[in-house]
Order: sequence, then structure tokens, then C-alpha cells
Amino acid sequence: MADLIERTRRLRDEIRKHEYQYYVLDNPLITDAEFDALMAELAALETAHPELVSFDSPTQRVAGEILDKFKTIAHRYPLLSLDNAFSYSDLVQFDQRVRTMVNQNDYVIELKIDGVSILVVYENGAFLYAATRGDGLVGEDVSANIRAIKSIPLKLKTALPRLEVRGEVYMPKREFARLNAAKEDQGERVFANPRNAAAGSLRQLNPQITASRSLAAFFYDVVYVEGADLQTQQDMLAFMQEQGLPVNPEFQLCRNIDQVYKLCQQFAEKRHQLPYDIDGMVVKLNSLAGREELGQTAKSPRWAIAYKFPPEEKQTRVVDIVVNVGRTGIIAPTALLEPVSLAGTTVSRASLHNFDLVAERDIRKGDLVLIHKAGDIIPEIIKPFPEKRSGQEVIVRPPEHCPACDSMVVRPAGEVAYRCENINCPARLKESLIFFASRDAMDIEGMGPAVIEQLVGSGLVKRVEDIYSLNQEQLQSLQRMGPKSAAKLLQAIDKSKQQPLFRLLTALGIRHVGPKIAKILTRHYGHMEQFYDVTADELVKIPEIGAKIAESVTAFFAEPRNRATVEKLKMAGLNLTAAKTAAGQLPLTGQSFVLTGSLPSLARSEATRMIEELGGRVSSSVSKKTDYVVVGDDPGSKYDKAVQLGLPLLDEAALIALLEERHDLYTKN
Ligand code: IVH
Repeated sequence: MADLIERTRRLRDEIRKHEYQYYVLDNPLITDAEFDALMAELAALETAHPELVSFDSPTQRVAGEILDKFKTIAHRYPLLSLDNAFSYSDLVQFDQRVRTMVNQNDYVIELKIDGVSILVVYENGAFLYAATRGDGLVGEDVSANIRAIKSIPLKLKTALPRLEVRGEVYMPKREFARLNAAKEDQGERVFANPRNAAAGSLRQLNPQITASRSLAAFFYDVVYVEGADLQTQQDMLAFMQEQGLPVNPEFQLCRNIDQVYKLCQQFAEKRHQLPYDIDGMVVKLNSLAGREELGQTAKSPRWAIAYKFPPEEKQTRVVDIVVNVGRTGIIAPTALLEPVSLAGTTVSRASLHNFDLVAERDIRKGDLVLIHKAGDIIPEIIKPFPEKRSGQEVIVRPPEHCPACDSMVVRPAGEVAYRCENINCPARLKESLIFFASRDAMDIEGMGPAVIEQLVGSGLVKRVEDIYSLNQEQLQSLQRMGPKSAAKLLQAIDKSKQQPLFRLLTALGIRHVGPKIAKILTRHYGHMEQFYDVTADELVKIPEIGAKIAESVTAFFAEPRNRATVEKLKMAGLNLTAAKTAAGQLPLTGQSFVLTGSLPSLARSEATRMIEELGGRVSSSVSKKTDYVVVGDDPGSKYDKAVQLGLPLLDEAALIALLEERHDLYTKN
């Protein structure tokens, strides 16, 4: 056991060292695979010996819990904010006051990271909790989410009795752009800037979501420490760094306010090359003793000031507003601009995100507009200048037909996006196919994105159904596809024709219809063609089906091109019916149910229909031969009899679980 404890300790130290190298210093010493192997070994040890698991182990970053709301935490020491300076003369004024009061002017200049202010508390060197700044006195307990940020250590280098540090959680520019692009693909509202994105990601009740968004942090202040003697801001930064906390490396010591101003100006230019967004510089008196003397107002310290960069905005003209269909079928407007240089690059287009925004901001083709870069990276129109209009400007409205395939455009309720619902729209065909063939859907082995790219690129596949008429010769003509793999792929395509109906329904890529919902739908409607005429009103009668799902199902089948594809798939021999079992029986054939009392959400007729659809029989009286008795509120004498006979009893939830389980077993083969 002693050996195991020692091995666990070493593994943890080793992993922490590599996390620090990778996430903080950006200088990995081993490959990702080697790192994964260390983590896997540690996880295996901890699984085999749960007594070895400790709260600060690297495996414990994301606990499984999902919070229902954040607790509040009162800060021991108020977390102040800063006064702002916007000009050289503001800085000079600040400096004069400092010099008059303490006769010092050594300043440490740091970047002002545009993120979310947090406090992290360590006790005996181990992470204790983390909180947002809140109003400075009381913040929210975001411990679970902060633990998920890998650059924040769960254990310090030294077992200090207590350390409270303040820092900024931020989202790197690239992650911000990636997240917003993904949101746009999904028809969701985008984040206005990395700060909002970081705040939104940190305030997730599910820490898995925080973990999935690459957040990072820099620490800049020791609020409280036991076990160290710090005299200056430089000491603080060096101390935090020694303890393994990420500290921004761009800080500098300046000997007078002119040097400070020069540095601020330099960074106003250099900021665009940084991988994260900064909105200014923070000027801090270096000496902590000097700070004591200067003190603070209710809101901010007198020993520091934030120099804010002027906003980077330019005027230009909207030459055109074009409409694009994205790879998921979302139809979005983009403004083509007269090129201008802005924040380090030449900008000639700006996403308008969605048509609501175009209408809200009243942006017209031909308008003179003010632009900036969201998060210092994504060009955006802030506003037009209506007073500068000539009368020739054109209002651009959402198209009624998809510009790529001419299908009717749909705007789902509650979404900001307009969409093309045609599964075969050339703009979204690749995505449609990738999803169609994927593991959760038709599970066609060997038909991954690279093969699909070639199939579409070469024109062999123009519609989803075309994959079922591919032949050996055509497949062999693809790059890196020998006769053997072509034959294997052909076999996999052929095999997929037998996939159960719920998989085909999933594969159509109807929004909100994943495998689980598809199973529910195919339990109620045993043939694909039944969906052609089903109404949203009928669909929402199914307990698990809400208005959103119902709407996307009906919108999908309302598109004649989609129905044509389903017909072609049928002709190609795909299974469109909830299959019978080998013996030609349904999964509940021969089983009898009795219902008594009223069920919380299902009407009796509905429960009966669901049982009967799977082959079960519902009878009105209980006997020894009854297989299950479904019991609701106020049950009658049937219940007493069932208890007397010792029959299995089900409540509504258990009934649904049973039906789902049987349906799953039945559709799995
Ligand atoms: S010092 C008493 N340093 O800017 C210490 N703040 O309005 C006060 N910030 O709430 C903060 N980078 O969220 C400091 N290097 C830095 C900073 C920084 C970003 C944020 C912080 C604070 C706000 C000030």
C-alpha cells in the first residue's frame, strides 16, 4: 500500500508539473499522448483504490455535480475596483496625488485583461474555494467551475496556511471566435465580447460546460497571505508565479509617469498581437507600504489606476449585404464593406449575425456605418449614420427562398436564425452526410468526413440518397481508397439499409431530434411516412415532445425535397418501418396490462395505445395471468387484488421506462 501511495503522489506531482508547463508556461515538455497516459494511470489507480482519491488530485477537476444555483460568499476583504484614466493628463494627476502623499513613483504596469474578476482561496496549499467579485463585498461561489480551468492549480508549491489571490478569468481570442462561430451555426445569439463569453461560461451551473470552453486566468494581486513576507507588487507577482499560479508576463517596472504613458501607448498598438483581449493597462504603486499610506476610497484604491484604451472604431460604407447559407443550413447576412484598416488588419466584411440584428440596428445597403472588432477580432457594425443617408440606401430583408437551393426558408419560433430545411441543399450537404453516416445515426463505418468531402467534391454524391447507388469502381476512384476498403465501405453502406427506423429518423438531421427523441417518435409512429402529415398539435400530445421538437419535425417533412429523399431511400431498400422481431412479434406480444387509477400525465387512452403499439394487451380485470398492473392516483379494487396476488406494480414513470427499454431492445438489432 505504501508503494501505491508513493506512486500516486509521484504521478500527481508529475501531472501537475506538466499541466503547469502546458497551460501556464505554454511550453509542454511531453506529448499529449504521454500526458494522457499519465492521467490514465492515475485514474486507474484511483478507481482501483478509491481511498487514494483526494480533492486536489488532477483527476478531480470536473466533478459530476450540476448545481441548481450558485451559493453566495461574503469576501473577508472587500474586492475593490479601479478608477479610470483616459489621457496623459489623467495619469499625471494620479501621479501628482501619489507623490504628494507618499513621495514615491515606482509603478508596476500590468495589462488590464478583459475578463471576469475572481478570488481564489487556498488553505494549507490546497484549493479551498473561488468566488466572483460580485459587488465587491459578496460574490458567487464558482468553485466547481474554477476547478475546471486547468491553468489554475488545485495545489500550490508550498503548503501555505492561507492564501487569497485575485485574478482575471478570460477567454482567449481564438476560443471566443470558435465559440461564436459554433453559436452562429446553431442559430443562437453570439456573445458580444470575450468578457461576456468568459462570464457566461463561468456562470454555467454545469461545470462540464465551463470545462469545454477553453478559459484561462492570470493572477495579479495577493489579497491575503499567511506564510510569506511581501514588500512590493513585484514581490507579489514573483511569489504567485513561484506558487504555480499563472501571472501575465508582460508587466514592467516604470520609474516615472512619462515612462508609464509611453508603455501604455506601446501596448495600445501591440494589443492586437496578443492572444487575449485587453482593454487598458493597470498602473500600480510598487511599494506595499506606500499603498498602506495612500489607502482607498469606498470604491477604489488611491494607489492604482486603470488607463483605458480609446475604443477602436472606424467609419466605412456598406457596399452590399449578401446572404449566405452556412454549413448547417442557417441563412445569415454579411455586410461587404469598403476596406478600412482597423485594429491591425484590413476589414472588408462584417457578419451581421442575423436578420433581427439588421432590422434592430437598421443597417442598409449603402449606409455609412461605424465598425469595431468584437473581442479585438470579429469585425462588427456598431451603428449606421441615418443622418448621412442619400435616399439611395436599400433595406435588405430575409429571403423567402434559400439562395443556394431555392427551398422555402423557415424561421423556427424562438430562434434568431432563418434556415434552409432541405437536407440536400448544396450548402449543407456535406454536414448532412457526415451526420447521416455518423455513429449515432446510420453508423456507416468508413464513411467519415474525409471520404464525404471527396464524394461531394467529385460530384458522385449530390443528394443523401446517392450514397446508396455508389459502386465499387466509383469508391475505388477516391484517394486513399484501395479495392479492399472500397468493398468494405460498400458493405457497410449496404448493411446500414437494415438499421432500425429510429436511426434513419435521427440520420435525417432534424433539429432537436437525436436518438432518444427519435426512439420516442418511432414508438408512437411506426412508419416513416406517418410523419408526412402529422401536425405539431398531434406531436405535442406525446409527453416528451415539446413545441420546439414538434415544429422542427413538421417543418422538415413539409419540405417536398425532404420527402422525395425519404422516398428515394425507401426505393433503395432502406427500412422505413419499426421492424418486427425475428418471430414476427412485437416486444410486448403476449403480455397483459391492467390500468387502475389516474396517471399523472398520460391519459388512459394514450397509455393503452402505447402498450398496444408494442404488442401488449390492456385488459379490464386483474387475474393471475396479468403481467403488470399500472397504478395511478386513487386506484380502485384492482389495486388491492393485484397486491393480494403479488403482481408486479408499475407507476407511470416505471411504465414509460419499461416501454422504452423494450422498444430499445427491439430496435437495437
Ligand atoms: S488590480 C485592488 N490588475 O480590472 C486591485 N485589475 O476595474 C484592483 N483587471 O475588477 C484590481 N487586469 O477585474 C487589477 N492586472 C490587473 C487587472 C485588473 C484586469 C480588472 C479587474 C478589476 C478591474 C478594475
